[in-house]
Amino acid sequence: MADLEATHRAIMTCTACALHKARANAVPGEGSPNARVMFVGEGPGFNEDRQGRPFVGAAGQFLNELLESIGLRREDVYITNMVKCRPPNNRDPFPGEIAACSGYMDEQIEAIDPDIIVPLGRHALARWFPRETISKLRAKPKRFGHATVLPLYHPAAALHNGNLRSTIVDDFRKIGDLLKGIGVPPPAAADPQPPTSLLDQPQQPASAPDERPTPPTPQERSETQQLHLL
Ligand code: URA
Repeated sequence: MADLEATHRAIMTCTACALHKARANAVPGEGSPNARVMFVGEGPGFNEDRQGRPFVGAAGQFLNELLESIGLRREDVYITNMVKCRPPNNRDPFPGEIAACSGYMDEQIEAIDPDIIVPLGRHALARWFPRETISKLRAKPKRFGHATVLPLYHPAAALHNGNLRSTIVDDFRKIGDLLKGIGVPPPAAADPQPPTSLLDQPQQPASAPDERPTPPTPQERSETQQLHLL
């Protein structure tokens, strides 16, 4: 069984790729170790690098609103990124950088064992669906082992293209629908001041399409460049 704290410690001192050279802080991820929902972004930006925390800038603010819209708090979920150190000038992470961090993601998924994994944007999508585009697969849940993978647009997409905002808000409801399927009450039915966290609900198998694609090879996971914006 992977040890999440040990993985976080390893990430903090990692020198496996060149990204460590310019970082102020590595950004392992944060949230509940018992989270049922795990969000995977692309990589830390300026604010995340400064604070050592994921999604604390403008995209993070929108992510917080999206979580709230479906009755979740950051503390209920786990949030991480494909790469744990900031790429210079927020450029896209290189395949080798993603590959260098890939083992950490394996450990995080094993330790948290989420029911729902939400890749945010094309770089995270490529880990599970290396030859697909986010616009094609967004909001379409697929089974991977016993987890359901629900790719969604990256929240930053709405900052660049305001028209996507309502799409992203609508797509986020799918997370609520999937949670209902595993026994977590929908936001409307939830206690407005819940005495217990959503995590305390009984666990049941996730309902999702019966499609079980073969997990990609490490080489396939690296093929991120061909994918288009978002
Ligand atoms: N964008 C990401 O993909 N991750 C962050 O942590 C912040 C912005």
